[in-house]
Amino acid sequence: MFYKLSLCLLFLIFLGNCNASLTPTDCVFVDGPYKYDLTNLTGKTWSYSDGPDSVDYYFSICGPSSICTNLNNNVPSSVCKITTNQFIELGETSTGKFIDNTIQGQGTILRYFTTSTICSGLPTFVFINFDCQPGQPNIVTGVQDSNPCQIQIYVSGESSCPFAN
Ligand SMILES: *[C@@H]1O[C@H](CO)[C@@H](O)[C@H](O)[C@H]1NC(C)=O
Repeated sequence: MFYKLSLCLLFLIFLGNCNASLTPTDCVFVDGPYKYDLTNLTGKTWSYSDGPDSVDYYFSICGPSSICTNLNNNVPSSVCKITTNQFIELGETSTGKFIDNTIQGQGTILRYFTTSTICSGLPTFVFINFDCQPGQPNIVTGVQDSNPCQIQIYVSGESSCPFAN
């Protein structure tokens, strides 16, 4: 019993703030002298089609995606993958959290995870990487999923750029 409780606590500490739930109104992240305000990227479902095997990724920034949530029995979901015959939930909305980018000022990273079983009981993480491209349109530039437990999504454009904090 105590052992189980300690494991659970460890798990909570490892994942950080488990109950963080970002909404479009607090889609702002401060990283030292930089402030990211991604509000302009919220309120829609973005998609990315990964090659000819018709794996489609859907995601929303700082809020649930209607496509993912509908297929997830209405449990708020921000990231999902749909293949020809399968729906896979990848990021519960309640887990959304900004994390520091290794290159300060170049962009930020929004992390989601899901505790479903695809990674042998461990969480599957999705990192949405925002790449500042001044004056450029906001687009999804790619998805890297060679490690299915650590999926990288890349978004670039003007709205990923920081303001002075
Ligand atoms: C959101 O987009 C509008 C219109 O392009 C722009 O004027 C505004 O500065 C943007 N806001 C942020 C926080 O990037």
